[in-house]
Amino acid sequence: MAQLNDALRATPIVALDVPDAAAARAMVARLGAHCDFYKVGLELFTAEGPSIVAWLRGEGKRVFVDLKLHDIPNTVRAAARAVARHGATLLTIHASGGAEMIAAAVDGAVSGASAGGEACSILGVTILTSLDGAGVGEAWGRSAVDVEAEVLRLAGLVRAGGAAGIVCSGHEAAAVRATHGEQLGLLIPGIRLPGGDLHDQRRVMTPEAAADAGARWLILGRAVTGAADPAVAMQLVRASLQRVV
Ligand code: C5P
Repeated sequence: MAQLNDALRATPIVALDVPDAAAARAMVARLGAHCDFYKVGLELFTAEGPSIVAWLRGEGKRVFVDLKLHDIPNTVRAAARAVARHGATLLTIHASGGAEMIAAAVDGAVSGASAGGEACSILGVTILTSLDGAGVGEAWGRSAVDVEAEVLRLAGLVRAGGAAGIVCSGHEAAAVRATHGEQLGLLIPGIRLPGGDLHDQRRVMTPEAAADAGARWLILGRAVTGAADPAVAMQLVRASLQRVV
């Protein structure tokens, strides 16, 4: 499949945050050739199962399966294998599942690809952006933690486990880059076009700023799917990510 993104500084992925396959198909039809990479998250995957991944693959699209797995290593290995066999390109796990679980996810993804899927990279979720230092401390039975320090520590665990990268906010990207350089690919959500509606996100970045911060992948949600014309919004995203030659 010819990749749309070859000339872009970062790869845009549109989040199909919709309840069912009909809504997903409608959005994919509206975006047409302007988008070749979609995120299927917990809502859509739980509603439709792997058939939605198969359908997207059949349409020639790449798929990021955002399930944020967190379980014992054996279970995560098996789930990652299954996701890779369905043809996903990216899969998320929680870094706090530990180094052995991360390595098991990588191992499962590799074996799923060799069993008929395609190369599937594992990305670690460090600290959910819905949690602050006090919330993490409460969940982990500690006093309030320094979120950036925890993100960097967990990013190290992801790297040690052999995963391809992490999910992080654009505002954490510089610190992660300073510590881990090119060793971890960064997937950055919370992207907005210049002057666009923030919705419920507080800390957003433009596609260009996220690419400057070192993003390899960008998650586009409502900035594209909530636009009056999603295809036009996606064209603006792509234009802002063109490499200057
Ligand atoms: O751009 P918008 O706010 O609509 O994007 C929301 C998408 O980004 C959702 O799919 C959500 O799961 C994802 N996301 C996020 N913040 C994070 C991680 C993922 O908004 N920290």
